[in-house]
Amino acid sequence: MLYDAMRNDHGLAIDPFKALVVPRPIGWISSIGADGNVNLAPYSFFNAMSDKPAYVVFGSAGRKDSLSNIEETHEFVCNLATWDLREAVNATSATVAREVDEFELAGLTKAQSRYVKPPRVSETPVAFECVYEQTVHFAAHAKDSGYAMVVGRVVGVYIDDRFIKDGRVDTAALKPIARLGYSEYAVVEDVFRMRRPD
Ligand SMILES: Cc1cc2nc3c(=O)[nH]c(=O)nc-3n(C[C@H](O)[C@H](O)[C@H](O)COP(=O)(O)O)c2cc1C
Repeated sequence: MLYDAMRNDHGLAIDPFKALVVPRPIGWISSIGADGNVNLAPYSFFNAMSDKPAYVVFGSAGRKDSLSNIEETHEFVCNLATWDLREAVNATSATVAREVDEFELAGLTKAQSRYVKPPRVSETPVAFECVYEQTVHFAAHAKDSGYAMVVGRVVGVYIDDRFIKDGRVDTAALKPIARLGYSEYAVVEDVFRMRRPD
């Protein structure tokens, strides 16, 4: 098939788009609002866009607490979503009032970040401490809709030393989870190597 994506006339029961952009890494974003509320939520419209310096982006499908907090206080942390923490990742996606602390909701503990105020998830082996740079609005949505992309510069990288072997991060040992379509996920457990041509 080939369908008109603006009309979304795929004729399927569920929109297939997200099942086609896979696997999507999950930014498990912690942030603090101007009033001090602590927030944690997973975002799979998430990726790194550059290194040296490193930049990450995530997409908010509407005005969510993470977007509001980050625009207020200009900092956030991207925690790695892992197989061991999959239930907690899911629990923090619940739609709850802004004052609810999802760390508490999911039984997670906070570790103090070094360069930014929002805490990282102490149970996860990797976290990026980020400074907000800009919100990119999408032309198809009203500017106040909250459908937008947040761009952040990574200013601190936390790695649990147990996952560094012979000078390299053991990615498979981290068991990162990633989002597919529907309610499907993937887990990275196998890796293969391929060298670029000269
Ligand atoms: C694995 C996973 C990935 C998600 N990715 C996104 C996303 O990319 N963008 C989005 O707006 N919501 C996404 N959600 C839903 C949000 O996590 C959910 O709306 C959450 O309540 C937002 O929290 P906040 O209002 O505290 O920021 C995702 C949920 C899950 C479980």
